[in-house]
Amino acid sequence: VKRVFSGIQPTGDLHIGNYLGAMVNYVALGERLGRDAIYCIVDYHAPTNPAAYDKHLLAQRTFEAALLNIAAGLDPDKVILFVQSHVPEHTELAWVFTTQTPYGDLTRMTQFKDKAAKLESVPAGLLMYPVLMAADILIYKADTVPVGDDQTQHLELAREIARRWNLEYGETFPEPQIYLNPNAPRVPGVDGKAKMSKSVGNTIGLLEDEASIWAKIRTMPDDPARIRLSDPGDPERSVVFKFLSYFAPAELVQVLREEYARRGIGTLVVKELLMQEMMKTLRPIRQRAEGLRAEPARVLDALEDGARRARAIARATLEEVREKFGLLPLP
Ligand code: TYM
Repeated sequence: VKRVFSGIQPTGDLHIGNYLGAMVNYVALGERLGRDAIYCIVDYHAPTNPAAYDKHLLAQRTFEAALLNIAAGLDPDKVILFVQSHVPEHTELAWVFTTQTPYGDLTRMTQFKDKAAKLESVPAGLLMYPVLMAADILIYKADTVPVGDDQTQHLELAREIARRWNLEYGETFPEPQIYLNPNAPRVPGVDGKAKMSKSVGNTIGLLEDEASIWAKIRTMPDDPARIRLSDPGDPERSVVFKFLSYFAPAELVQVLREEYARRGIGTLVVKELLMQEMMKTLRPIRQRAEGLRAEPARVLDALEDGARRARAIARATLEEVREKFGLLPLP
């Protein structure tokens, strides 16, 4: 791992799927790599999905996403944290890649197919989405990309774009590898079915109020085979235990699993413990978020500094790309 890049959409309240699947790794890799850990709020990706985009909220949500990442432990004095549209070289490189990417590679992306199926009019940007994502990563020549496993196919395409470019125009980009959180590559929703996702409405927000979180945990489905308290429960099939494993110490989870399996305890007790353990993680994030909200300049200054540092790297790559691509040098 030499250089890390990842992006996160400013779609309003980030949830514990974002946190466990991606943000936890941003922090850990940032500690190790300093300024070679580059993180971006991808505001130009947001409008590709009209269902999630609102021109009156985009700027506020972009600020909020940056704030929450800092509150979750990212140190902007160590890493590079910036806003995608503040480094316009991303979209320029995306155009170059767009001309070199087969249309069919984009129409077969499952996220495109899923999202497009729900829209009456499909923006061309939704199709180009993974090309912009490849440009985000490759403009920093990043070799490692911490994301959740829903981004696997997009990452494969980014590698393909890098490979094709290197063959045609000479060795330029590393082929970026996916970096998953082995404990939480895909966090399920509170319904225990689909992956946690804002568009499904099965999330627990990092800033959601406690009463609302408890209402969701209280009604989480149990092991479907367990109908009466006296039935043995299978922790493997319980989404409550899945969530507990994210937040509680392993020894505690083990004891509870055994008790649950031999019907020593009911689900409600496990849910109460889950609530307690989850809030131990969320409370400090909320406190830091509140502190930052009182000092917005700290966030804005961090983003300004991040954009300056990111842009210096992006410019150098784009200069190399322009030359290899055969463009007339800039006047
Ligand atoms: P986005 O904004 O949808 O999600 C941000 C990160 O959270 C992860 N994630 C999850 N991980 C585990 N379980 C879940 N239920 C879950 N839900 C979300 C996502 O995998 C992601 O890592 N296309 C990206 C943004 C992007 C990007 C990039 C990422 C744009 N350019 C370049 C990496 C590199 C996206 O929409 O993530």
